[in-house]
Amino acid sequence: MLQNETEPEEKAGLADTDLSGRTVLVTGSTSGLGREAALAFGRLGAHVIAHGRREQAGRDVVAEIEASGSSAEFMAADFADVDAVDGLVENVRTSVDELDILCNNAGGLFRDAGTTDLGVEMTFHVNHLSPYQLTTGLLDTLAEDARVVTTASIGHRGATLNIDRVAELTGFSPWAAYCRSKLANIQFANELARRLEASGSDVTSNSFHPGLIPGSEFSRSFVAPTRGVTDFLKTLPVGDTPKDGAATMVYLGTSAGVADVTGSYFARCRQRRAAPAARDEDAMCELWERSADLLGIEEPLVAYR
Ligand SMILES: NC(=O)c1ccc[n+]([C@@H]2O[C@H](COP(=O)([O-])OP(=O)(O)OC[C@H]3O[C@@H](n4cnc5c(N)ncnc54)[C@H](OP(=O)(O)O)[C@@H]3O)[C@@H](O)[C@H]2O)c1
Repeated sequence: MLQNETEPEEKAGLADTDLSGRTVLVTGSTSGLGREAALAFGRLGAHVIAHGRREQAGRDVVAEIEASGSSAEFMAADFADVDAVDGLVENVRTSVDELDILCNNAGGLFRDAGTTDLGVEMTFHVNHLSPYQLTTGLLDTLAEDARVVTTASIGHRGATLNIDRVAELTGFSPWAAYCRSKLANIQFANELARRLEASGSDVTSNSFHPGLIPGSEFSRSFVAPTRGVTDFLKTLPVGDTPKDGAATMVYLGTSAGVADVTGSYFARCRQRRAAPAARDEDAMCELWERSADLLGIEEPLVAYR
């Protein structure tokens, strides 16, 4: 990581923001851009709930936030496990009265083909179904003006998603599965925005591409020769840094300039146009309904059209 790099809240032009009394949950904040965003929200005064699977890394984030003068807690939950996500929902509800900012950031690229206990391909489950389960499970814990921010990726461009085939592992490609899950992230964020708006809620939902960030732990499941290339890139000042990526998350979570913006896609703190598939209203609606079916739950924010 570059030394003395500008912090995300400064990159986002929000260093003077005061988040005292606000509560933020950043999933996947044991490393990478989620960690940098959690630290930034803490420096701005928020109570931060950090999340991931690695307990020690979670404790380290909490200690760093507390050293900056804010309060924080760590909640572990494996996003490949439905019961663990239910447990996270319950832990958040028990711990805080309201959630002001929910950052759906946990995720990754998983090299080996496999399905979870739900019979769903792992990448789709971890990167899409669990954020869906978490967010819809916390809907009544969200503050009136809460913001939901979902970390997507430019990789959604060119991806296709057939919800009937999310259990199929034949010809599995980790990159295709990853890009498909990131398309699902944007469709989910957009559909959440539409349904919240239709229900009269002021809660916003936006998604963003954080940049191409060799300095995070995203490449942890890569193998040679790709692993060697990404490890080398980490030593060079190329691409974006985790703090760059965190800047757009902090921007969407706190900037007054986007207080009323919902159902939009961003990169580098600016609104962008997501790929047509990410804005396909029928596909968004179908993903929403079928995700509830896969999880065996009632459809949240029931259809409005
Ligand atoms: N790096 C890039 O170039 C890039 C580009 C576009 C989008 N993104 C997106 O940015 C987000 C953050 O990635 P990153 O680059 O910061 O990588 P990272 O350093 O690997 O961070 C990923 C985070 O997700 C958590 N996570 C992964 N699998 C999990 C699981 N099964 N259950 C619970 N938590 C899990 C990890 O925590 P534990 O390991 O503790 O579980 C970690 O905190 C991801 O959604 C990724 O798709 C990254």
